[in-house]
Amino acid sequence: MPADTTFMDKLTALCKRRGFIYQSSEIYGGIGGFWDYGPMGVELKRNIKDLWWHDMVTNSPVGPDGREIEMVGVDCSIIMNPKVWEASGHATGFKDPMVSCKTEGCKGLFRADQLASTPCPLKPSKMAGQHDKCQLTEPRAFNLMFETFVGAVQDESAKAFLRPETAQGIFANFKNVLDTSRVKVPFGIAQVGKSFRNEINPRNYTFRSREFEQMEIEFFCHERDSMQWYEFWRKVRYDWYVNLGLKSEKLRLRDQGKEELAHYSKACADIEYLFPFSDEFQELEGVAHRGNYDLTQHAKFSGKDLTYFDDEAWERDRAARAASPQGAWSKDEERELKTKPPYRFLPTVIEPSAGADRATLAFLCAAYTEDQAPDDKGVMQTRVVMKLHPQLAPVKVAVFPLVNRETMPDVAAAICRDVKRHMTAFYDDKGAIGRRYRRQDEIGTPFCVTVDGKTIASDTSDPEAGTVTIRDRDSLAQVRVPKDGVLAWLRDKLGK
Ligand code: GAP
Repeated sequence: MPADTTFMDKLTALCKRRGFIYQSSEIYGGIGGFWDYGPMGVELKRNIKDLWWHDMVTNSPVGPDGREIEMVGVDCSIIMNPKVWEASGHATGFKDPMVSCKTEGCKGLFRADQLASTPCPLKPSKMAGQHDKCQLTEPRAFNLMFETFVGAVQDESAKAFLRPETAQGIFANFKNVLDTSRVKVPFGIAQVGKSFRNEINPRNYTFRSREFEQMEIEFFCHERDSMQWYEFWRKVRYDWYVNLGLKSEKLRLRDQGKEELAHYSKACADIEYLFPFSDEFQELEGVAHRGNYDLTQHAKFSGKDLTYFDDEAWERDRAARAASPQGAWSKDEERELKTKPPYRFLPTVIEPSAGADRATLAFLCAAYTEDQAPDDKGVMQTRVVMKLHPQLAPVKVAVFPLVNRETMPDVAAAICRDVKRHMTAFYDDKGAIGRRYRRQDEIGTPFCVTVDGKTIASDTSDPEAGTVTIRDRDSLAQVRVPKDGVLAWLRDKLGK
């Protein structure tokens, strides 16, 4: 399928119009690679992060043995001791190849490996390097970490970095978590937070930004079970996106080839989505088998013992040995055995690493739909509707008085207040009812409740007296529900 730029133009216009995404510091002309989320965007992205945390941490998935896996969380600082980045390899290895153009009027900086898909600033529009005038330099390595200084003195000794991934905060705290919680291998540590990369060519809306949020898990397990956990996380993470509305025909799991794998990695799969801005699948999340590389590096650079001691296996084997004909181990044997596998070891890590902004963009792309719906006069019109999964929708329900007469506004406002205690709800009494529906359709509100003449009717012989209409965003079907039963009806439908 060719890239659909018209689709992206429509989507970005809607995101601006309805308060999902704005250019950062737009009133000053913006700043490349930085984005702001508006009132609807912040709710959508928070729903994504909250659901991720709920589904992966607080209500963690059931593991291969049929038990809920053990998961805890951390929230680490963005600026860390610079030694962290030496240990992780980012200080020396986190680089992209960059070329610059020496031509007057261009002076562009480009990623050397993306020239064919990066527009050249010169006219007529071509790709970087394709104009006769282009004078590209040889590629040179550019480190993507943002630098800053800690404290008042701006010299080498005060230099620090904004974290380029949340993962290293987890590894650096591995021992703290072990010592202060009851976790036992296998277990995972999760973190959601900002990361920063000084991308050479940020592009495709929020897809490749310079500031973004990650949702990462480092799952610590025995090496012998690691491939089973790797397969487990591949599936859990793929299914998570599908369950929240990404179509499986646009989502794929791509196993990296041997030549793509880091030297310490046994396997890595990318969860890729067919975004409308490209005719190729693009990475949404990576699930990597990282061996025990990160803990090994941090143990080496910090000089700290980051090994895990399996006290359950130790106590079990020690008791079994004592009960055996050979008798208990000697004190020296015990001391020696306690320092080695299978009792003491560096766990192997499986890392599902997702981007909250990329997930938000994928859900927005998947939700954008145009269909036909009747306007106030019954004439069919093109309707723009964001078919977001109800759990992701920024607003769950909108409540309207049909007209601003009699007690309709009061009854509608009271229903809205009642519902708001349990879910995001929005009261709207401005403009024609059809226009109010359209506004909610464009932000993906699954249900609209309308208070009309029947709701406030005093004629109790009418079976519909005292009921409201509830309209379904996708099917446009309307049902009548007693006004006192609205909250229960919505909670049932939304599982809230
Ligand atoms: N700890 C592993 C790690 O950071 P990564 O593939 O570099 O792996 C993981 O990043 C995820 O973070 C990506 O799959 C993507 O969703 C998100 N991500 C990475 N760079 C990004 C950027 N410049 N803008 C938006 N999201 C990004």
